[in-house]
Amino acid sequence: MMAVDLPVCSNAVFELVLVFGVRGPHQGNPQQLHGPSNQRNMRTMSLRYFTDTGIEVPAVTTEQMIEVDRVAIEDTGPNLLQMMENAGRNLAEQAIVCLGETWPGANIVVLAGNGGNGGGGICGARHLANRGAQVRLCLVSPDRLGAAGVWQRHILQATPAREVDIDSLTGSNEPVDIILDALIGYRLQKAPRGKALRLIQWANGAGAAILALDIPSGVNATTGETPGEYMRARWTLTLALPKTGLLPDHTGDLILADIGIPAGAYAWATLKLPYTPPFGDRFLVPLLPRSQ
Ligand SMILES: NC(=O)c1ccc[n+]([C@@H]2O[C@H](COP(=O)([O-])OP(=O)(O)OC[C@H]3O[C@@H](n4cnc5c(N)ncnc54)[C@H](OP(=O)(O)O)[C@@H]3O)[C@@H](O)[C@H]2O)c1
Repeated sequence: MMAVDLPVCSNAVFELVLVFGVRGPHQGNPQQLHGPSNQRNMRTMSLRYFTDTGIEVPAVTTEQMIEVDRVAIEDTGPNLLQMMENAGRNLAEQAIVCLGETWPGANIVVLAGNGGNGGGGICGARHLANRGAQVRLCLVSPDRLGAAGVWQRHILQATPAREVDIDSLTGSNEPVDIILDALIGYRLQKAPRGKALRLIQWANGAGAAILALDIPSGVNATTGETPGEYMRARWTLTLALPKTGLLPDHTGDLILADIGIPAGAYAWATLKLPYTPPFGDRFLVPLLPRSQ
C-alpha cells in the first residue's frame, strides 16, 4: 500500500506528474488547454485509486455506478434525497476548504443541470448560503429540473442565495471566487450542447477556480474522453467511488466524498466490489490515482 501526504486542496498536480508523467490541468495557461484531448491515451490509461492513508478504492464505470445507486435506492438505502444531501453538504464543506482565507463572504457561483448532479449542486448552494456566502445559482433549465432538483430548489428559495439566468450571469461583472460545476455528471455520452455548453465556456473563461461535483462536466465518467468542451476543474469531488474516467489530465486534485452508502451495497450480488471503507474518521479524503 502506498501512503502519501496530500492536503485535500493542495496543488497535487506536480506529484501526479511525477507518478504518471502526464500533463496536469494547471501547468501553464489553462486557456491553452481547450479542445478535445488525446482520445487514444484516454482509452488506454487504466488507473487504481488510493486514499492518502493507502486504502485502495475500486473505480467503477458509469454502468456500475448506476447499479450502486439502484442497489442503494431500491435495496439497502440510503435513498436518493439522503445521498444528495450528503453530496451537497460535502460539496459545500469542500468549497469552504478550497476557498481558505477567502471564504468569509465569498462570491460563489453554482452551475446546476437538470439531473442528479444538478440536485447535489443546488443542495450545496443552500449549505453555503446558510453560512453567509454570496451565492448565485444558475440552472440550465429551471422548467426541466428533475423531482429531486425541484425539491432542492424549493428549499434554496428560503435562503439568501440568488437565482440568476444565463444571460445575466454571463453578462455580469460581479466578482467570482469559486465556481461549483454541477451541470452534467456520469450520464454524459456526447459533446456538451446548448446552455450547458455555454456555461462551461463561460466558467472556463471566468478566471475563477472550478470545483467539479462527481466528474467535470464534459468528461465521460467511464472512459475519461472529452468529446467536446469540458470544465477545467481545479478540484473534483467525486461521490462514493472514483469513476474509471477520472484521469488526472482533467480532474485537478481528486477528493472522495462519503454519501452514506453502506459496505453491504458494494458487496451486493450484482456488484461484488472489493470495498474497504476508506474514510476512517473523515467524510472527505484525498484520492491519488496510480498507473496499474
Ligand atoms: N451514489 C451516487 O454517487 C449518486 C447517486 C445519485 C445521484 N448522483 C449524482 O447524480 C449524477 C447522476 O444523475 P443523473 O442520472 O440525473 O445524470 P446527470 O449526470 O446529472 O446528467 C443528466 C443531465 O445532464 C444533461 N446532459 C447529459 N449529456 C449532456 C450533453 N451532452 N450536453 C448537455 N447536457 C447533457 C442532461 O440534459 P437533458 O435533460 O437535456 O438530457 C440531464 O439534464 C451523478 O453523476 C452524481 O453526481 C450520485
